[in-house]
Amino acid sequence: EKSGFDHFMLKEIHEQPEALRRSIAGRLNEDTIHFNEVSLTAKELESYNKIYIVACGTAYYSGIVGKYAIENLARIPVEVDVASEFRYRDPLIDENTLVIVVSQSGETADTLAALREAQDKGARVIAICNTVGSTIPREADDVIYLHAGPEIAVASTKAYITMLMAFYMLAIYLSQVKGILNLSRSQELISELKRLPEKVEQIIDNSVDAIKELAKDYVDQNDAFFIGRSIDYAVSLEGALKLKEISYIHAEAYPAGELKHGPLALIVDGVPVVAVATQQSVIDKTLSNVKEVKARGGVVTGIVFEGEEVIEDLDYKIEIPKTDELLTAIPSVVPLQLLSYYVAIERGSDVDQPRNLAKSVTVE
Ligand code: F6R
Repeated sequence: EKSGFDHFMLKEIHEQPEALRRSIAGRLNEDTIHFNEVSLTAKELESYNKIYIVACGTAYYSGIVGKYAIENLARIPVEVDVASEFRYRDPLIDENTLVIVVSQSGETADTLAALREAQDKGARVIAICNTVGSTIPREADDVIYLHAGPEIAVASTKAYITMLMAFYMLAIYLSQVKGILNLSRSQELISELKRLPEKVEQIIDNSVDAIKELAKDYVDQNDAFFIGRSIDYAVSLEGALKLKEISYIHAEAYPAGELKHGPLALIVDGVPVVAVATQQSVIDKTLSNVKEVKARGGVVTGIVFEGEEVIEDLDYKIEIPKTDELLTAIPSVVPLQLLSYYVAIERGSDVDQPRNLAKSVTVE
């Protein structure tokens, strides 16, 4: 069943290009997005003054990318919340709120409870989900299926990457329904979305050897930090979660600009730091944070666009193909997934069944 791969996680990482292709199939024209399962009229959309994205774990982190994409393109304020927090804090929602819940399994207890809470308060709920016919999509008002295929490894990879794709498509869709996305920008985004499966393939093909080497430097570490700004920060959160889940190394993600507000105190000689630095609008700022880390002895791996020049401060560099600044989450998470996988292998952990974790969390 593992088709020659040592673990389901590695197999699923390699399946990502195909999963992405399936998730966009039939949904992208040259300049418009079609969701058969969601139909919002301009009038309905106008009535929503806020969007909540609610989920757990990796799905929650996909929602942070979703916030950037929806706010950027559709100009609607988005709040992202962890389902177990949202459901117990009497959230400010009513019929003018659009709620998006995200779940690979479609059975996560807290996410399901959040969906019910939102519907009770009169909100419309869109589910982004992988498992067809599971409880969350059955109860939601609209469903966007991921079509990632069955995900077996506890650590989510192909479901996460297709969640990102779903959010990018949804953000474009919402801005089109609102009538605020101009034709050339929408063509640009859609044609770039179509190129992403191949770019992910390239990253897997080209970076595995370097990442296996890099993993050896992580094997004896106790802590690791992931930094980035904007979408790079959202991806950092997922990178840190993957590393802690399967390699059991304590990993934290920080917005790069937050370093000097606390975590810099932990950067001493030899501490590994992954800097996700694809966002061109803030790259100088991110790289100046890299310098601060280097000055304290941190060992920095940069995830950067190929051809990026301003990187003499990096100890290691993993290049990813250039893409639109808004869409970088999809390619940039791939080296982070591979890094956690190979670090976990080096440390001898049970990659597909990490200790204390279950694939589907159906109890609180
Ligand atoms: C991390 C991971 C978990 C899940 C979380 C939500 O790799 O798999 O954090 O993302 O338990 O699960 P779903 O998406 O099934 O609701």
